Amino acid sequence: MATIRIPASVRSAALRLVTARGDGGSGGTLDVSAIRHFPARARLPLLRNGVDPVPELAAARSRGDVVRLTRVLGLDVWLVTGHDLARSVLADGDSFSNDVRHLLGNRPRSAAERVGGLGMTDAPDHTRLRRVLTPEFTRHRLARLEDSLDRIVADCLDDMDARGPVVDLVERFAFAVPFRVICDLLGLPEVDRTEFRALGSARFDLRQGGQGTFGAAATSREFLISLVARHRQGTADLDPDGLLARIVDGHPELSDVEIGGLADGVFLGGYETSASMLALGTLVLLRDPETYAALAQGGRADGVVEELLRYVCPVQAAFPRFARRDVALGDVRIAEGDLVLVSLTGASRDPRTGAAGDEFDPTSPTSTHLAFGHGLHRCVGAELARMELRAALTGLATRFPHLGLAVEMGSLSFTPLSAVYGLESLPVRLDSRSQVARSA
Ligand code: HEM
Repeated sequence: MATIRIPASVRSAALRLVTARGDGGSGGTLDVSAIRHFPARARLPLLRNGVDPVPELAAARSRGDVVRLTRVLGLDVWLVTGHDLARSVLADGDSFSNDVRHLLGNRPRSAAERVGGLGMTDAPDHTRLRRVLTPEFTRHRLARLEDSLDRIVADCLDDMDARGPVVDLVERFAFAVPFRVICDLLGLPEVDRTEFRALGSARFDLRQGGQGTFGAAATSREFLISLVARHRQGTADLDPDGLLARIVDGHPELSDVEIGGLADGVFLGGYETSASMLALGTLVLLRDPETYAALAQGGRADGVVEELLRYVCPVQAAFPRFARRDVALGDVRIAEGDLVLVSLTGASRDPRTGAAGDEFDPTSPTSTHLAFGHGLHRCVGAELARMELRAALTGLATRFPHLGLAVEMGSLSFTPLSAVYGLESLPVRLDSRSQVARSA
């Protein structure tokens, strides 16, 4: 497998660029918690106007399916927004690498910090580890979660009901449902969930800064690794049919760190993404009362969920890809080592796919969206996410058919510059008719 040749001077300059730590004596270890700088032009794929991408993204697509965003340390950074070209980059593991370590010279300090997610790993490690996960995500295996999914949704709706009439849907529903779904999927014992939940919230609470977030990431990984070790010693109470126990028991060749890392990748990949989809998806439905009413009256959710995925596309850009060699993308020449960012949001709104572009239209064909990526690294949990979205949005609309925003649309605050786009909070009134009645 070809490795990417990056000159040592560029590597160390990259480290200086992205870290503010400056401990040159530590041998080039990247301290992710200290990331401060993000070149302004490279922000384009992460910028949005409410639910929509900024117009500059469509303007970039009109200039070409791939455009040069910026140049950093002698390497060009390219942005792909055209749908077909995006698919071909995502499917081409021979020309592009997902492994960033060559650039960052990453020499981690602890076992828990050493685990890289599947998304930043190349074959053959990626193939070997992904093969361990995929059997756990077939429709057949996921069917075991269907009943518990309905129960989780019903519990969260009860909780909202008890706290109403105004609740923050992000906290009480959008994060609450996926957290319990992931815990059930992993088969975590009830007693350990409270601790795990606290770690999960710290991880996504960017108000604590990078240090808090990455500290919590290492701690939640350590927590999962120790759970694996305890299961081997017979002192953890894991669900024997859950993903963690099945992988530990079925794969004696894997270390605790590898299994803990895989489980952590599932948590990381599946929690915030699903939560963002539920929050932003609800917001889109509140702006489209006809579609919401159809769900409340028992209409099929499949088409609505697919169109929401395309339109919201919460994972804004795929994992960064690095050119393994000089490659031609359309009529643009990408040099070896260059960084290619694929805008999943931009590609999913490419009007040439026949989908509704910048309109939300659940009746239009949407099967080609790239909200789950494509190719080798396509989302492992896509079927689970779909199940979850269908159950949660149908449950919400059925239980609260008169749900309404409790604040002005313009006062909502979205997560700025985040790889997974979302809402900070979504105050909703469970029965907006009561408000209308009071103010009449
Ligand atoms: C609406 C919810 C979700 C969205 C929008 C989403 C989106 C994505 C995207 C765009 C990628 C990477 C594509 C790339 O760079 O090529 C990805 C990868 C991944 N996702 Fe999801 N995801 C969601 C839910 C989930 C769930 C529920 C799980 C597991 C429980 C999960 C686990 C993963 C994993 C493990 C990867 C890495 C796959 C690899 O690199 O081989 N995701 N997801």
